Parts: sequence; C-alpha cells; structure tokens
Amino acid sequence: MPSPQRRAGKTVLTVVGARPQFVKAAPVSRALRRRMREVLVHTGQHYDHEMSASFFEQLDIPAPDRDLGIGSGSHGAMTGRMMEALEAVMVETRPDLVMVYGDTNSTLAGALAAAKLHIPVAHVEAGLRSFDMRMPEEVNRRLTDHVSSLLLCPTTAAVKNLRREGITRGVVNAGDVMMDAVLENLARARRSAKPEVVLPPRGFFVATLHRQENVDDDRRLRDILETLAGLPLPVLMPLHPRTRKRAEALGLSPHGSLRFLRPAPYLEMLLLTSDARAVLTDSGGLQKEAFILGTPCVTMRGSTEWVETVRAGANRLVGASPAKIRAAVRALPSRMPTSAARRLYGGGRAAAKIASVIERWLARGRK
Ligand code: UD1
Repeated sequence: MPSPQRRAGKTVLTVVGARPQFVKAAPVSRALRRRMREVLVHTGQHYDHEMSASFFEQLDIPAPDRDLGIGSGSHGAMTGRMMEALEAVMVETRPDLVMVYGDTNSTLAGALAAAKLHIPVAHVEAGLRSFDMRMPEEVNRRLTDHVSSLLLCPTTAAVKNLRREGITRGVVNAGDVMMDAVLENLARARRSAKPEVVLPPRGFFVATLHRQENVDDDRRLRDILETLAGLPLPVLMPLHPRTRKRAEALGLSPHGSLRFLRPAPYLEMLLLTSDARAVLTDSGGLQKEAFILGTPCVTMRGSTEWVETVRAGANRLVGASPAKIRAAVRALPSRMPTSAARRLYGGGRAAAKIASVIERWLARGRK
C-alpha cells in the first residue's frame, strides 16, 4: 500500500514521466511522505500501460496527483509543452522544492520550469556524465545540474564530475536509489514475477535497445539485431516502443536466437536480469541493475555514466560493432559477487538519506 501523506509542513513537488523515473521515485516517495507532503506529477512522456501504469502498480507508487498527458513529440515540442503545463501546476501548488530524477526530457522541463519560478530544485542522480553532448540525456542532465540547489549524487564519480564543473555547493553523495529498489523488490520478483518466456537460469541472454543513437540509425539497428540473432544462446529482447516502430519500418523481424517480447514490467525484468547469463543493452539503469545482481553486462554504446561497473570488470563497452559484441560475449566473465555494488551504490539506504537531507535543508530555509 502507498504510504500515507504527512499533512502539515513542507510540500515537495515530484516530476516523473519516463519508465526509469518511476523506479527511482518509488523508494524516495515513500521516504518523503513519512516526513512531508508530496505532490506527484506525471508528465505523460511514457503512456503505454506496459511503460507506465504497470510500474505504478508493481512498485506501489501512489496515483499521480496530476497527469499532464503530454505524450511524445520532437524534443523541443515535448519539453516546451511539459514546461508550460508544469509551470501552471507549480504556480497553483506553490511547492517548497521540486524534485526531478535522471536525465529525460521530463527532468529538464521540471528543472527549468521550477528554476524560472525561483523554486529550488533537487536533482536525484546528479553529476552523471557520458561526455557525449550528442546524447539528449547528456544535455538534459548537465542543464538540470546547473539549475539545481540540491545535487543528490549516486556515486563518488558523480561528485567529482560536478566538482570539475565548479559545482560544490548543495552536493551530497546520497547513494543510488535504484539499488534501494532492487533490494526492496528482488525477493518479491522471485516469488511472483511471471516473465513472458521462461528459460533455465544462465541459459539465455537478455537484451534491450532504445537509445536514439542506435535505434534511429538504420545501419546500427540492423547490425545490432543481426548480431544478437547470431549469438550462441537465446536472446530475450523486451522491446521498447521506439525500437519496435523502427524495426517494423525496416522490415527487421526476430530470427535465429533473437526473440522479441513486450516491454517487461519491473519485477519480470528484475528476474530476467538476475537469471540471464549476461545482459546486452544500451540502457543506463540496466547496466547498473545487472552489476547489482551479479550478472555480466555488454553495453552497446561508446560511453557510460556508470564507470565503476566497467572498472570492476562487470561491464564492457562495445558500441554497435558486431565483431566487438561477439568478442565480448565470447569473453564473458563469470557472475560477480554483489558486495562491490553494495559498497559503491550506498547499500540500499539512498532514499532514506535523500529524504532526511531534504527535510534538514528545507528546515534551515533556502540557500
Ligand atoms: C526516454 C528518455 C531516456 C530514458 C528512456 C527510458 C529522453 C530524451 N529520453 O527515452 O533517457 O532512458 O526514456 O525508457 O527523455 N513511446 C510509446 N509509448 C510509450 C512511450 C514512448 O510508443 O509509452 C514512443 C514514443 O512515441 C516515441 C518513442 O517511443 O516515438 C520514444 O519515446 P521518448 O519518450 O521520446 O524517448 P525514449 O526513447 O523512451
């Protein structure tokens, strides 16, 4: 059951919109609501049941107070429409603080709308960098960090990135809220998750793909899917709607080892990630979830924000090169101990820490 709201005191307005933000906000919302009032706003960036409502259900997230229903569009149109609608909600509800998560267009829209109304912004997952400004996510997170008053970093690497950009005030290494979510939900996933396809543990790979750089480039998309189809174990691929649309437009259908699935709900994805021989992905969050669960990862990108997963030998960056993907799969390490991830990502206490940092910060007054 969602936690009851504390009625008196300060109000925090939380902006979510895309799948990974539902996962991150779930533990933080719960911790915040024990201490203050939360107004939860869903921008509507992700709207399919499988991309949105199923996460609210499985993670016991309270129904949003507002659903802006903005949906998809070009980056500028989507961000602009979100800003306009969020501004109106902020003017009406007068929050003491606006919380944003990660690096999506919803993050940037929430941060900019708040900053222009002089409402302080707290950014969860501050300080992450890929150093690749062609990624929309990199633009979103850099700009968000530079208008935030509280920068809630998941790792020491993130704190260092901010220091290099001259941001030291309001910076806290809070640990990683996705670690909290994994620890809270893994036992439940083992008890009740029902993946669309069940295969013996370690007898399959799980793959996901949704980054603009991979999916909107016909050649890269074709190369990656062909390579996955030729891998030596079945490849279960829950398909993001963006990827499904592009694959269908190019006439690319699953064959060989490759099986397309519907987008997986959170608990099912946790179970698949935990049981797979390896994860192949271009998602940020999944690289880290694989590391937390001890499953080796092959990342189909040229850079990663989660540098500690690569340093620990748990993750290999291969871009979209078929030869590199195949080589990384041939040289997969065995399962990793999960203790390193617990140490690096705050051991599952990030949400409580974030809520108490925010409570103290608001009690002291702004600045
Ligand atoms: C967004 C985030 C990305 C995050 C990802 C998680 C930005 C710039 N990117 O990428 O950082 O990792 O979410 O999934 O904010 N669509 C549907 N149904 C849905 C949602 C999307 O059909 O429920 C379609 C949209 O119409 C669009 C495409 O998928 O054509 C992409 O959606 P969009 O929200 O633009 O970006 P994502 O690729 O999901």
